[in-house]
Amino acid sequence: MIDNYFKNRFTVRLFSDKEVCQDLIDEIVEAAMHAPTCGNMQLYTVIETRDKVMKTKLEALHFNQPAAATAPVILTVCADFNRFSRWCELEGAVPGYSNFHSFIVAMTDAVIFAQQICTLAEMEGLGTCYLGTVNYNAKEISELLELPELVVPVASIAIGYPKGGSEIVERLPVKAILHREKYRKDSADEIKNLFRVKDEFPQNQEFVKLNNMPSLAHLFTEIRYPKKMNEEVSKSFEELIKEKFMK
Ligand SMILES: Cc1cc2nc3c(=O)[nH]c(=O)nc-3n(C[C@H](O)[C@H](O)[C@H](O)COP(=O)(O)O)c2cc1C
Repeated sequence: MIDNYFKNRFTVRLFSDKEVCQDLIDEIVEAAMHAPTCGNMQLYTVIETRDKVMKTKLEALHFNQPAAATAPVILTVCADFNRFSRWCELEGAVPGYSNFHSFIVAMTDAVIFAQQICTLAEMEGLGTCYLGTVNYNAKEISELLELPELVVPVASIAIGYPKGGSEIVERLPVKAILHREKYRKDSADEIKNLFRVKDEFPQNQEFVKLNNMPSLAHLFTEIRYPKKMNEEVSKSFEELIKEKFMK
């Protein structure tokens, strides 16, 4: 399993026209629901978008990324304390889940669940692509999907049958990730060595050249995830969490 699936998987960003049957989505979601969750509260909801009108609107909120535009289905996974809180209230119990901690708990449940969906879908021969743009337009996506209080979108997944091949991309050496007993403090040379696999990966070198950047690190800090953009997204996402979870 480790060598056959996990080390050979890759993100798919272009999908064929072939529809993904409803039964398969249902089956994947049902199996993904066996993921562990905090207190077995299952603090997530997934919204399936396949209707053309809704999908066109959602695609635009994902900046018409090719994965969003070509996938027949987009799944928006939400951190959801609404259903659980309502159940508590109906039972006469007083829920205390309008706070930041509860958002983090629900987000953790939701993200683990989202990854189960991706793994199951890929094992069934589908391709998947997370759409990080869910954070950029979380407020607008919440409005489009009519999300109530205590529900915030945290992961979007474009899903469908792959069109054409994709490439397995590089990973840091396991030494970078796995520290033994205590956090290892790497020297400057060690950090540079750990990142050599990324610096030397041909696709990365191509992007660096194409964007006229002095290094791969500069490509990240100046083009892909610059400070100003991160701060703007943080501000709007923080406002949304306050509105939905901290009233
Ligand atoms: C939180 C998250 C957000 C992502 N956002 C995007 C995205 O907006 N567009 C995209 O094409 N890929 C996106 N990806 C996919 C990553 O680019 C991809 O997983 C990474 O480059 C490693 O490639 P691999 O999945 O093929 O191994 C995202 C992945 C994650 C986990």
